[in-house]
Amino acid sequence: MRVRLFVDDESSPRSEFEPPGTFNLDTHDLADGPHTLIVQAGEDDGTVGVERIPFTVRNGPGIALFGLREGETVRGRISLLVNAFESRVGDDFEPARAETPAPIPTWAFVLSLVVAAWAMYYVVSEYRGHAEEIAAAAPLPVATPPSTTTTPDAAPPASAALGEQIYGNYCSACHQLTGEGLPGVFPPLKGDPVVTASDPSEHVRIILNGLLGKEIDDFAYASPMPAFGSQLSDAEIEAVVNHERRAWGNAAPSVTAEDVARLRTQATAP
Ligand code: HEC
Repeated sequence: MRVRLFVDDESSPRSEFEPPGTFNLDTHDLADGPHTLIVQAGEDDGTVGVERIPFTVRNGPGIALFGLREGETVRGRISLLVNAFESRVGDDFEPARAETPAPIPTWAFVLSLVVAAWAMYYVVSEYRGHAEEIAAAAPLPVATPPSTTTTPDAAPPASAALGEQIYGNYCSACHQLTGEGLPGVFPPLKGDPVVTASDPSEHVRIILNGLLGKEIDDFAYASPMPAFGSQLSDAEIEAVVNHERRAWGNAAPSVTAEDVARLRTQATAP
């Protein structure tokens, strides 16, 4: 069997050998552009197999052109930017020669504007999220409790709604709306011994004076429970304590605003 290698329509083969064999194709005498390598394999009885492999030669410099696109319709005078860069085997890559000083396209400006706008939005929303968290955890005087109009002897349903509202505003940031706290960070109030104790005094005192360093269920919480004595009225503490004592399946005796007032004076008088 004989193998013959042709390039394009050349009449004489570039190489002829018994397979298997190797052949070095020198592309320098081929013009830049599309070509075809034709491999003919002839059997001894005369039948010939042919394989055609199209390929492209580029030995000359690469060409970059800006200002005219394929098939573009133009009129008048147009300004073209042309650059050419070499890419021969063995050439060191030289970015300065390869780079064409094309203008920055408009979409790049638009994209950078979009990215900058998103970054600003992100910073503002993060900041706002934190500000809200801090306000909920330790309410500042600015955040006036929405309950200042309620009187201490408000009807029970109003007081229940108030308790839920105060819990949402002042306590849920740490103890969570589910009353389950955050494991290892804030203790749960659901099923908590203080919250479900039949005597609510300790429960009220903790809200009035805060708490630090108590082990709850054999766990020492690192952060303190803030004191709410100066921020919440007797009626508000009554409402939130009774909310905690009835919510999440808790069912403990309730407290009155008078109890809170009594515990408050005890607490302030050492
Ligand atoms: C900044 C977070 C934070 C906020 C806000 C907060 N707590 Fe606490 N609370 C804690 C931490 C921490 C502890 C545990 C402190 C310790 O063990 O020393 C705790 C403990 C308690 C306890 C005692 C539980 C026990 O078994 O001793 C009660 C009751 C309680 N909080 C109720 C409330 C109520 C009611 C509010 C809202 C008025 C509230 N907490 C708001 C963090 C918070």
